[in-house]
Amino acid sequence: MTISHPKVSAILLAGGKGLRMHASTPKQFLLMRGKPLALYSFETLCAYPGIEEVVVVCDPAYHSIFIPPTSVSIKFASPGERRQDSVFNGLKCISKNSQLVCVHDSARPFLNYEDMISVIRTAEKCGAATLAAPVKNTIKESDGNAFATRTLERSYLWEIYTPQVMIPSHLIEGFEIVNAQNITVTDDMSIVELAGYPVKLVKGLSASIKITTPEDFSFAQVLLEQRASQ
Ligand code: C5P
Repeated sequence: MTISHPKVSAILLAGGKGLRMHASTPKQFLLMRGKPLALYSFETLCAYPGIEEVVVVCDPAYHSIFIPPTSVSIKFASPGERRQDSVFNGLKCISKNSQLVCVHDSARPFLNYEDMISVIRTAEKCGAATLAAPVKNTIKESDGNAFATRTLERSYLWEIYTPQVMIPSHLIEGFEIVNAQNITVTDDMSIVELAGYPVKLVKGLSASIKITTPEDFSFAQVLLEQRASQ
């Protein structure tokens, strides 16, 4: 029996400057076990049978490190000022035939293959889906001076990761609103929500942690060493 896969265009975001990492190289290109961080999730995206193309958003100096398998075509887009501007630049490059677009932060190297498939399958059914996890800690709102104003009901709260997968036209419609009203967002599902489409949260097998600080980088290195020795 052959399994059919929706045609997916991936947008791999690798255009950040990684200032919180305090390194001269952007964090997504730092070497982890001898491999640039961005290549870990690039390879996982390329392994999905329905992937048609990967649009990598990054500085041209790093184009040559991305070598896809022959079944996957590669395109490059220029980074924008904010994360959402980089997504927008990538979105302009995707093929008209794509049934779904999959946006992933290259700063999240531990993209689990099974989780990626679950998010894609859910987006196929629901129109838009993101990898996520119910929060484990209490979350409080503050007044800006670090005084708590409110404790949010934890049972409804989820932490949001990437990949985020959606029907391309939902994201395009959302961007029309975001750009017209000059709204800043921190993820792509917020854009889909602004256009009025439902977004399904998919609990993964593992957290898709984001490397932001030197401590995150050290932690990720330990995780990789552990995996390599298993
Ligand atoms: O800055 P932050 O960690 O939220 O970035 C998440 C991802 O988005 C990273 O992989 C980063 O390289 C990317 N990014 C981008 N263009 C920007 C800002 C961030 O591609 N202007």
